[in-house]
Amino acid sequence: MKKFNLQGLFKKNPQATLGVDLGSHTIKIVEFSGNGREKQVRKIGRALLPQGAIVDGSIKDHEAVQEVLERLMENLQPSLKKASTSISGYSVIVKRIHVPYMTEKEIEENLIIESEKYVPFEISDVYIDFSVLKTYEDDNGGSDIFLVAAKKDIVDEYANLLEGVGLTPAVIDVDAFTLVNAFELAFGKVEEPAVLIDIGASKTNLNIVRQGMPIFTRDMTMGGEQLTEAIQEATGLNRDDAEVAKTAGTKDTVLSKEIANVVKEMTHLWTKEIKKAISFFKSSAASEEFPTCVFLSGGTSMLAGIEEYFTDSLGLETRRLNAFTGKTSDKDIDEKYLERISPQMAIASGLAIRSAE
Ligand SMILES: Nc1ncnc2c1ncn2[C@@H]1O[C@H](COP(=O)(O)OP(=O)(O)OP(=O)(O)O)[C@@H](O)[C@H]1O
Ligand SMILES: [Mg+2]
Repeated sequence: MKKFNLQGLFKKNPQATLGVDLGSHTIKIVEFSGNGREKQVRKIGRALLPQGAIVDGSIKDHEAVQEVLERLMENLQPSLKKASTSISGYSVIVKRIHVPYMTEKEIEENLIIESEKYVPFEISDVYIDFSVLKTYEDDNGGSDIFLVAAKKDIVDEYANLLEGVGLTPAVIDVDAFTLVNAFELAFGKVEEPAVLIDIGASKTNLNIVRQGMPIFTRDMTMGGEQLTEAIQEATGLNRDDAEVAKTAGTKDTVLSKEIANVVKEMTHLWTKEIKKAISFFKSSAASEEFPTCVFLSGGTSMLAGIEEYFTDSLGLETRRLNAFTGKTSDKDIDEKYLERISPQMAIASGLAIRSAE
């Protein structure tokens, strides 16, 4: 197995993999049957992790994570044994850089020297990979590439976890790129640039995608956990009650109002950060790369009213991402349930279409 594989990012090999998204709050699994456009959702499921089991993309409590994953696998009984998962956080560096080389072979040969300029870790401690974005045929030449470096111990940790439940790790990807796959799964290669934003529990991945390629990516430390904490502070509820009130709402009108205020303040902060990231991208992008719409995913994107709020605040039409758009599902899967949880399953869906070469 190639431990870390960015190349072939968009190859849709007929042999799909089991998509396993190991989030800090929830483990998500998606399995497709069938090939190409005929894909059908065969298995889908999620399970909560104990708090603190995965922190900043690092598995702190291996046993607890393995136990939850094992139970979820037992419930779902997936057919595929080859699995894909993704990592994010401090141990992964994703950078768009310019290199003075034109061919993949040249880039590969010089990758370590180039990486040393950008990677804040010992090069011997990381897996390095790249994906060519653009090759310049003019006098100056060179190429724009996405450089990805991931700490070996973290990648190995994730691979070991999959092996521990009887799966064969096929691909260990980066959250940001799987999101682009999920978008393509839903809509194909869209010409117009779009912003994809996955708001999880502890972090938010922002990606700008154009013609099926990521052109900008940024990780931000904001998410649903922060919102739960703010609700606790404002209302005096304990964590569990705050979490329930946040996700399922409450009949208590006073409490409901308090929560709505906290949500409003928090989403205001989030959209401010997102606006900054988009402006930063636009400051060095060509006008045809300017995004025209936003797609939200991640569990926190299931917050009521978030689409409207983002649309107004960002000045860009915002919708939730349903990676299963146009796909059929197994008769045992309730369609309404599938539609409701689809945004939270985006990364797992993007992983499930990765190939098991
Ligand atoms: N209906 C809902 N409304 C609002 N928030 C929700 C809802 N359902 C789940 N959430 C929140 O979504 C978050 C979990 O989402 P997700 O599964 O995308 O996170 P994760 O992948 O585990 O975390 P991360 O990617 O940050 O490590 C939690 O904070 C949870 O409270
Ligand atoms: Mg996540």
